[in-house]
Amino acid sequence: MTNISAAITAVGGYVPDFILTNKILETMVDTNDEWITSRTGIKERRILKGANKGTSFLAIQAAKDLIQKNNLDPTTIDLVVVATATPDMKAASTSAYTASEIGATNAFSFDLDAACSSFLFGMSVASSYIQSGKHKKVLLIGADKNSSMISYEDRATCIIFGDGAGAVLFEPNEEGFGVQDEYLRSDGSGREFLRATHGGSANAITEESLKDHSQYVFQDGKTVFKNAVFNMADATEKILERNNLDNDKIDWLVAHQANKRIIDATANRINLNPQKVMMNIEKYGNTTSGTLPLLLSDYESKLKKGDNLIFAAFGGGFNWGSIYLKWAYNS
Ligand code: UT7
Repeated sequence: MTNISAAITAVGGYVPDFILTNKILETMVDTNDEWITSRTGIKERRILKGANKGTSFLAIQAAKDLIQKNNLDPTTIDLVVVATATPDMKAASTSAYTASEIGATNAFSFDLDAACSSFLFGMSVASSYIQSGKHKKVLLIGADKNSSMISYEDRATCIIFGDGAGAVLFEPNEEGFGVQDEYLRSDGSGREFLRATHGGSANAITEESLKDHSQYVFQDGKTVFKNAVFNMADATEKILERNNLDNDKIDWLVAHQANKRIIDATANRINLNPQKVMMNIEKYGNTTSGTLPLLLSDYESKLKKGDNLIFAAFGGGFNWGSIYLKWAYNS
């Protein structure tokens, strides 16, 4: 048995400049600030503007933030994983372009898509590569340009999603810090409730599909909400039980930011003090793969070596789970 664990040793983040507020959305669809705030906790979200700018733009900025803050030589990175549900293009992987643009010339790379759980599942992948002993520096980036797959005529989805990215570096640790345990699950019967029907390999975009906007994300919000509340809380409870962690021993809940009510329900299930719940949904909305690393980027200065972090996510597929990680450094 190896005694190597995969520790997070650096973080970075990036959100685009343009702020889409609830007030602006009131002028676009039939909604209002009070409804959005009380039902979701979201006040504003960021949108990436500019021709030909895709998810790689966000991923590159987040990675550069990490590299600059930590004086990291990008040629020492072994692997770049871009967790995303919105790749730049079909066929050409977003990760290869991202790795080249940040100067990770000795790395191999691939994209990973598990919808809103992409980053969480990416943590499992990064951790396994590190634990294998073969790779010493794995850069995991969570990035999504959600505005590329949202209809700004659909009030059920456009109020929720935003664009953004975060990056973390995983390195081997022999002192017991890093990823401790994971509980990850999938259930394909959920795909009808959260999907973009046209534009993938099953259904091409047609004149008809363009007319009914079915290339954009459709969500049966209530069903997704119920499944998210149940499964995120269930996965988190299982991780706590398996690791004999009561709520006193948890320092932070790092939960996917899809709806404040879902995050609160998960925290309530484990009786966690709200001050231990990382939250930035009010300013970014749901950035899909970006939510978890953006939380780490925003809260990095508050994290202490040895802190117990519980990650949790739920999203399209359905895919969900929870990961227990011991924080490895003081900022
Ligand atoms: O990260 C991926 C996973 N996604 C999620 O976890 C999202 C999960 N779902 C949700 O967060 C919530 O279901 C929503 C925020 C999407 C919707 O909230 P809800 O409390 O479930 O509302 P609802 O869909 O049941 O709609 C309630 C009412 C409806 O009107 P009627 O039929 O009661 O007259 C909707 O038409 O609210 C209406 N409504 C709106 N009203 C104002 C729906 N969207 C809006 C809106 N503004 N933007």
